[in-house]
Amino acid sequence: MAKPRVVVTQKIFPEIERLLNQHFETKFSNNTLAMPKPKLIRAAGQADGLLSFLTDQIDGAVLEKLPKIKIVANFAVGYNNIDVDNATRRNIAVTNTPGVLTQATADLTWALILATVRNIAAGDRYVRQGKFKGWQPDLLLGLDLPGKTLGIVGLGRIGAEVAKKAKAFGLNVIYCDQYPNQKIADEAGARLVTLEELLKESDIVSLHAPLTKETRHLMDTRRFGLMKPTAYLINTARGPLVDEKALVTALKKRRLAGAGLDVYENEPRLANGLAKLPNAVLVPHLGSAAYETRLKMARMAADNLIAFFSGQPPPNCVNPQVLRTNPSATAFQKT
Ligand code: GLV
Repeated sequence: MAKPRVVVTQKIFPEIERLLNQHFETKFSNNTLAMPKPKLIRAAGQADGLLSFLTDQIDGAVLEKLPKIKIVANFAVGYNNIDVDNATRRNIAVTNTPGVLTQATADLTWALILATVRNIAAGDRYVRQGKFKGWQPDLLLGLDLPGKTLGIVGLGRIGAEVAKKAKAFGLNVIYCDQYPNQKIADEAGARLVTLEELLKESDIVSLHAPLTKETRHLMDTRRFGLMKPTAYLINTARGPLVDEKALVTALKKRRLAGAGLDVYENEPRLANGLAKLPNAVLVPHLGSAAYETRLKMARMAADNLIAFFSGQPPPNCVNPQVLRTNPSATAFQKT
């Protein structure tokens, strides 16, 4: 039986290429950035499966042009880049890579919290610009962490891991979540509050919610207004959770003390004025950017494709309802 055709939309590890080659007729891309949609459609027009990346916009118009696609295996835990409802209507399975990037993303969140509240990026610029003339009692004073309050918006896998690490810094942790889970909260040492209470009480607000219609612009002018002017906002989740223009205004007016951002509303573009703000620490979507983590994510995406085309349920399917109704899931089953 012919092997299923799988297109990998961006550069992937050689060991994962070898693995995919054992199971599929493959087409790889050497690009490290997303393909423009027309190119993606040309590349994947005849494919049975797609290994996509979080910067690939797999919307209804793209899916429409990929008539043979049965599965999109996303190399990311977030899958807001895929129109899952549309894929489900077309009986296309969508998978993601949960769990393997939790530690790395929580670590990066902490790196960003510390860099932001202790002026690491500003200090680095200061030294490189030759401004460092010696120790000063009031040079770049930041926030003492013990006894302060960290507010976690979204106590999922990553939010809970960030909360657990907060103990080591002596912080109190509060959280809000659409679906609160007492067991996870107890393990993470976090107290449930409303979003409004969280914004009012926190010295550091860290966002860990998925991007959905409901969470887009979760942080807007009104909600920045609820935060303490001495508080910091950290975002390692998805850029559009924050109205970035409103954030720039709040930071400029010192309505907030600072922000640490790994993700942006219109990535990779930044809102006007953001790059000029000394109280913003900006990094380029590095949450899961650790070698072993990225290798595990790639392996997980490949394993989802392999399981699917051998007639098994892919372990990380986000729309499992298609598996019950999709006879093509078994069309490539090995005999
Ligand atoms: C990274 O942002 C991911 O969703 O995996």
